[in-house]
Amino acid sequence: MTHKDRGSAWYTDAASYWERVEPTVQGMLGGFGFLTDTDARGSLDFIAEFIDNGQLATATACDCGAGIGRVTDTFLLKKFEKVDLVEQNSAFLETAKTAFTERGQAHRIGEYYAVGLQDFVPEEGKYDLIWCQWVLGHLTDDDFVAFFKRCKLGLKPGGFIGVKENLTKNGIIVDEEDSSCTRDERTLKRLLAQAGLTIVKESLQKGFPKELYAVKMHVARLPPPVVQTALF
Ligand SMILES: C[S@@+](CC[C@H](N)C(=O)[O-])C[C@H]1O[C@@H](n2cnc3c(N)ncnc32)[C@H](O)[C@@H]1O
Repeated sequence: MTHKDRGSAWYTDAASYWERVEPTVQGMLGGFGFLTDTDARGSLDFIAEFIDNGQLATATACDCGAGIGRVTDTFLLKKFEKVDLVEQNSAFLETAKTAFTERGQAHRIGEYYAVGLQDFVPEEGKYDLIWCQWVLGHLTDDDFVAFFKRCKLGLKPGGFIGVKENLTKNGIIVDEEDSSCTRDERTLKRLLAQAGLTIVKESLQKGFPKELYAVKMHVARLPPPVVQTALF
């Protein structure tokens, strides 16, 4: 069975699943909370070259499928001045809000959008980086493509879209329990290409247990604006 056979239950089943998950790092990572530092280090290393060479500005990022704000906390706020969170489960966002307030970081969080990515419309030209981690398997292929087309409009000129997801070796595996799918890299790349995105860097996350799916990061970039200079 695929998400095509499940219709709108695909999203409501996922929402019901996440309602039963505790709002903790362990809950977000299905018991693999100990991977959080390795995960964050991998992401920071992955984007470092673009920040260092000045291609990636660090004013505003968007954390898609943010959960309780784990990625924002351990990765995005280390580099970006302000971060917006998008998450379909409003209880997770409440947990994030409380935690960022307690850590004295509330002023660095912009918006908390309690909405599924399939319905999220980013504000035009707002973000330097839109980061999607461990959430895209919840989107149907059509919604995946439509979402990234909208994300392109949400970027500043020269902005980046980052994707960090589990990948199968071959084919798509549906998880009936949480109503998600794990794609292979060929499919992920095909969908990103369909959305008009060109990948500029990809890397395997290192240091994760061998029994887990491979986790890869891909980043795509909007072309920077053409700077026209006078001939004389
Ligand atoms: C595996 S957790 C990852 C959370 C976070 N990205 C992290 O790495 O800590 C998946 C998250 O995606 C959220 N989610 C599931 N379906 C979603 C959808 N359609 N739109 C937005 N978020 C969704 C879940 O509520 C959950 O918070």
